[in-house]
Amino acid sequence: MKINEARSKIRNSHFGKKSKKLLNEWINHESLGSVGMGLFEVPPVIESAKGSYLYDCEGKEYLDFLSGFSVSALGNNNEEITKIIIEQSQKLTHYFDFPHPERIKLAKKLCEISGIKGKNSVIFGVTGSDAIELAIRVARYFTGKPYILTAHGDYHGVTYGTMGLTTKGGMHPYFHPARPNMDVGYFPFPHPYRKPNDKYPGYDINSLKIFQQTLEGKETVYTDGLNNVNNVAAILVEPFQSSAGYYIPPKEYLQILREIADRHGMLLIVDEIQNGLGRSGKMWAYEHSKIEPDLICTSKAIGGGLPLSAVIGRKNILSKWKPGAYVSTQAGNALACAAGNYLIDKLTSKGFMQQVNRSGKYFFNGLKELQRKHSIIGYVDNCGLYTGVELVRNRKTKEPADIEANYVRDLCVEKGLLFEKGGYYQNRMQLIPPLNVETKTLEKCIEILDRVFEETTKHFN
Ligand SMILES: Cc1ncc(COP(=O)(O)O)c(C=O)c1O
Repeated sequence: MKINEARSKIRNSHFGKKSKKLLNEWINHESLGSVGMGLFEVPPVIESAKGSYLYDCEGKEYLDFLSGFSVSALGNNNEEITKIIIEQSQKLTHYFDFPHPERIKLAKKLCEISGIKGKNSVIFGVTGSDAIELAIRVARYFTGKPYILTAHGDYHGVTYGTMGLTTKGGMHPYFHPARPNMDVGYFPFPHPYRKPNDKYPGYDINSLKIFQQTLEGKETVYTDGLNNVNNVAAILVEPFQSSAGYYIPPKEYLQILREIADRHGMLLIVDEIQNGLGRSGKMWAYEHSKIEPDLICTSKAIGGGLPLSAVIGRKNILSKWKPGAYVSTQAGNALACAAGNYLIDKLTSKGFMQQVNRSGKYFFNGLKELQRKHSIIGYVDNCGLYTGVELVRNRKTKEPADIEANYVRDLCVEKGLLFEKGGYYQNRMQLIPPLNVETKTLEKCIEILDRVFEETTKHFN
């Protein structure tokens, strides 16, 4: 995008004078490659936040269905977390990548809630990409094998170490001429809505079974199934596909991947960075499939709003490294660990997850009601407070309503509702309120969407 195009977008936006002034200053000093204008026509400038609400620099209120991309699980500026951060900052803010009481406490808690039987241990990082890089490094070191298998459409970060595992076409050209981490193979991600034979197709569970079958023979670069040898360290997947558009696969998906991993001696790593920590109504999204992974990557919500990530998993894998095998200056930061300890106490407190599921059901019912009324809604994915909405022009052909989805997003911003738009066909709404969202906020969201769908249908007919 050229700077003049960005200026013209700002000029034509519905924002007020103060916002426009700040937005112009923003593009004067920050690279246009930053994600704001990638995800929004023009993003609002948010100055403050409270609970499930964000406020822009002109005081306009927005319903927060972004939750800072799944970071603000307990709402924005949660008072308890703020208090904990202040208290911790008076004791210890930072101590390099070394042990301190909050970090030791958090590692123990993460092991306790991992759901992986036997002895567990933890590696800390700062970002989600850190956790993924650490997990694939340890998997390759442990197995002595190079390849990582992942799903089409998965998002695992955009650093050099993770980009090869991420299917975001729009970003790959920016890595030219060096290729990011390419010892990677991809398999189909199944979803119940679109079938392989549809005019606008998608993968189903049989597509994955075909991949599974190829591993049994010689027609693949990953295994020699006939002689039972392979070059794959691990299968790395998002249990639900988040950045791609909030897609929930059939429960069989992870079960088949676990079968493949067991059959060929590969590790199974789940990326719970976006769909974990209560988002799906269980601690981890993988739990819905009743399988056990070998390693879990977590980040986003774990630091209670501060940067933190971790790999949790089988002790025999994570403890194979010798002292000093990995380090990151800011990893396991004291403030973030203190906030993380509070987050886990809250997620495991009596009734918390039940409330997430009640809220999720309430929201899902509201969206199903909207679906009966507005034919633009083709499909609703929902599990706990993890929700994706697919927009179509025609319910029979499932023709993606991609331009309409942009219109819906922009109108929602105007009416005070923020969410991310995604989808393989650019036609999905990703709706992620904080886990402690109030029913009246969910109601307000449904009311706004009702009006927005009505206006969108009128506009395009
Ligand atoms: C599932 C998943 N994995 C990994 C990442 C990378 O995390 P980060 O942006 O903190 O590096 C993200 C970020 O959105 C994600 O959603």
